[in-house]
Amino acid sequence: MQIDLGEYEHTREYKNLIENYSSQPEYLLAMMQDVQKQYNYLPRLAISMIAEYMSMPVSRVYAVASFYKAFSLTPKGRYVFRVCDGTACHIKNSETLLDQLQQHLGIMAGETTPDGLFSVETVNCLGACALAPVMVVNGKVYAKVATGDVKKIIKEYGGQEHDS
Ligand code: FES
Repeated sequence: MQIDLGEYEHTREYKNLIENYSSQPEYLLAMMQDVQKQYNYLPRLAISMIAEYMSMPVSRVYAVASFYKAFSLTPKGRYVFRVCDGTACHIKNSETLLDQLQQHLGIMAGETTPDGLFSVETVNCLGACALAPVMVVNGKVYAKVATGDVKKIIKEYGGQEHDS
């Protein structure tokens, strides 16, 4: 397993987050959530430290991280734009919203801008179909998003239009 050396500068912070809990298995999810919340993903070093602290195989922590969609194993942008592409949102043109987002930010779904500011993702259903099409940015829900709103929403988070 390869560990990014840059992660080591956060060793103490990982340790503090992890050791907020006792090493009982029922606290595994809580400590993973705290690390995810703080860094927007689960760094490999933090995963190794969690496994060591909990005296469990690293593979078990990875299995939990892969099972829950709320966890990410790759770094994400400070702002994560999630466009719902479930049936109700799809019918209401979510594809166009996604296209606009990708075009304005210059990245595709699943990617992060080089400045680390924005990521774009698609999700299946956010459980708010009556509000379709729906987009969520870091937990803030945007309902019935019109195509003309996309630029405005990006600007709210300090985004500039991509030039290409
Ligand atoms: S399909 Fe988008 S919220 Fe349900």
